[in-house]
Amino acid sequence: MLIKSRRSWELPESAATSEDVFMNRREWLRAAGFAGLGLAASNLMAGSALAAIGGYPFPQNGAYTLDRALTDEEEATTYTNFYEFGSSKNIWRKTRKMVADPWAVTIDGMVEEEMTLDAEDLVKAMGGFEERLYRHRCVEAWAMAVPWSGVPLANLLKVAKPKAGAKYLRMETFLDKKVAPGQRQGWYPWPYVEALTIEEVQNELTFLATGLYGKALPNQNGAPIRLVTPWKYGFKSIKSIARFTFTDERPVSFWEELAPKEYGFWANVNPNIPHPRWSQATERLLGTDERVPTLLFNGYRDQVEGMYAKLPINDPRELYY
Ligand code: MTE
Repeated sequence: MLIKSRRSWELPESAATSEDVFMNRREWLRAAGFAGLGLAASNLMAGSALAAIGGYPFPQNGAYTLDRALTDEEEATTYTNFYEFGSSKNIWRKTRKMVADPWAVTIDGMVEEEMTLDAEDLVKAMGGFEERLYRHRCVEAWAMAVPWSGVPLANLLKVAKPKAGAKYLRMETFLDKKVAPGQRQGWYPWPYVEALTIEEVQNELTFLATGLYGKALPNQNGAPIRLVTPWKYGFKSIKSIARFTFTDERPVSFWEELAPKEYGFWANVNPNIPHPRWSQATERLLGTDERVPTLLFNGYRDQVEGMYAKLPINDPRELYY
């Protein structure tokens, strides 16, 4: 079979198109995953990957609760930012064309062994499924509060086994102009890229979401896996991740490449550092007309501030856009 002559990270896009290839791909990805992961096959073969993830809703972690009401589910799933499908907030119907299962994820760069595996096999290997209630603050000054399901991103490190010199984790969204009409707009630097330091990856708050409101993630919110970093502006929380790359050079993210003075690498929420074109002092709660004060690090100061105390940064403002 054609697929066998390829190395794991050379999976063709066409493998996602028909149902029979689709099933073969899942099986094949799983095999590639075993080889790459070096895990006992029984760990991952117990039931299908789908059934294993079907444990929604996962137990809620009481350490991550909220000071405000949850956003209405319909609001959070119909008012979304996903530029691959257009620059309006009302693109959720267009994302139906995206096939999020199976979903090939490549792990490469400074790792012991590069691998490509199915997203569900990856999150199962990472483990630690739970639900967390988090605030989310978009750089555009709207905010929501939602229950994410998923796993700590720190658990990626035990699967990927990065080399000692790796300093950053670069993440990339899928690239497919046939599925995502926004990617035909050549003035954007597709694919969408985001990155964190390894210390940020290891932070207790950093989460890889697989679900929202106790169900698998809807496509428009970033199925099958999306990053959640609640102390940073929302553009950091990259959706529909298809590649994780460990590197020793600071990656340039999608928005940073477009407008480096407006959307920086660190993007930590700070009400006192305005965006060049608007204030960040308050935020509108999605689905309401209510504005509330924005909090430093979006209210997560205790968990994250220590990571930024000793960085070699000339202008501290750099941390907050
Ligand atoms: N990820 C990708 N791939 N493409 C995007 O356009 N938008 C970002 C982020 N992740 C975006 C993305 C922005 S600006 C925000 S505020 C959040 O996704 C929005 O997440 P939500 O639509 O689930 O609320």
